[in-house]
Amino acid sequence: MTSKPRAAVIGWPVEHSRSPIIHGYWLKTLNLAGSYEGRAVAADEAEAFFRSFAETGLIGGNVTIPHKETAFACCDEVDKTARALGAVNTLVLKDGRLFGSNTDGLGFLNSLDHSAPGWDRKGGSAVVLGAGGAARAIIWALLSRGLTVHLFNRTRTRAEALAEHFGTGVHVHGPEEMAAVLEGASLLVNTTSAGMGGKPSLDIDLSPLPEHAVVTDIVYTPLMTPLLLRARERGLVTVDGLGMLLHQAVPGFELWFGKRPEVTDELRRLVLADMGVEDENPHETAEPSKSTGGMGQ
Ligand code: ATR
Repeated sequence: MTSKPRAAVIGWPVEHSRSPIIHGYWLKTLNLAGSYEGRAVAADEAEAFFRSFAETGLIGGNVTIPHKETAFACCDEVDKTARALGAVNTLVLKDGRLFGSNTDGLGFLNSLDHSAPGWDRKGGSAVVLGAGGAARAIIWALLSRGLTVHLFNRTRTRAEALAEHFGTGVHVHGPEEMAAVLEGASLLVNTTSAGMGGKPSLDIDLSPLPEHAVVTDIVYTPLMTPLLLRARERGLVTVDGLGMLLHQAVPGFELWFGKRPEVTDELRRLVLADMGVEDENPHETAEPSKSTGGMGQ
């Protein structure tokens, strides 16, 4: 008798992760046998955990902060996206070998395609705010769609290091160049944690953006960050950060449980309810009851 497939989100801490809710919803609605849990693994235990993954009883899982790089280093094989990013967010065990991939960038693109169809067909470049791990995945994704990326970060040297990592296609700017760069942009992405949990978003004048520009934020607590609210006031299309979280989960679920799940409004509402956000009225500022982990898995 084969046992039910078990997957988990692996991080430290993991109790605020919404991944068990997402995968639990899909297991239930697709009527599949299997389980998905949270596994808290401390930093000093992470390497041993991933190296002996076959003994954990898990078929695979998601990797979240702070283990994405450690997981990458411990995989027997990684796909080309994970290799380009040096980080793994999805694991699957195949014939005793640990295979790692990274679906963060794809989740970002699928969320935009879903919520703002055609966002990349109007020409123009993408402006990215921030130069951390999330920015790395998003820049990779934008370059894969052939967009030119203009990068701004509080610590410029970090932005320069990231641009160098990708070679061509990423241009680093100082704040004095923001207005000119926004004029030619079709997408503005905030990848920084500014705007999370009631803190102010970065103070950026959105008026130079063209009318067709889309503004998106990877922060999803609150769902409508001050940046997104200002973009909406300007009449621009906005895409919130919850979509990226939901869409990045799709490929892992299919790998572990054998069916491709869908990102539905019902799933969105379920996750929003867990965040303490009862409805999606964009003008209501959500005060999340569990505000930790408002970005990432
Ligand atoms: P992650 O891996 O989730 O992207 P990170 O590596 O800690 O997280 O990166 C956070 C990003 O948010 C960085 O670009 C950081 O800027 P610095 O490189 O200057 O630290 C940016 N960030 C966080 N808080 C910010 C704030 N209040 N204002 C501007 N940038 C901020």
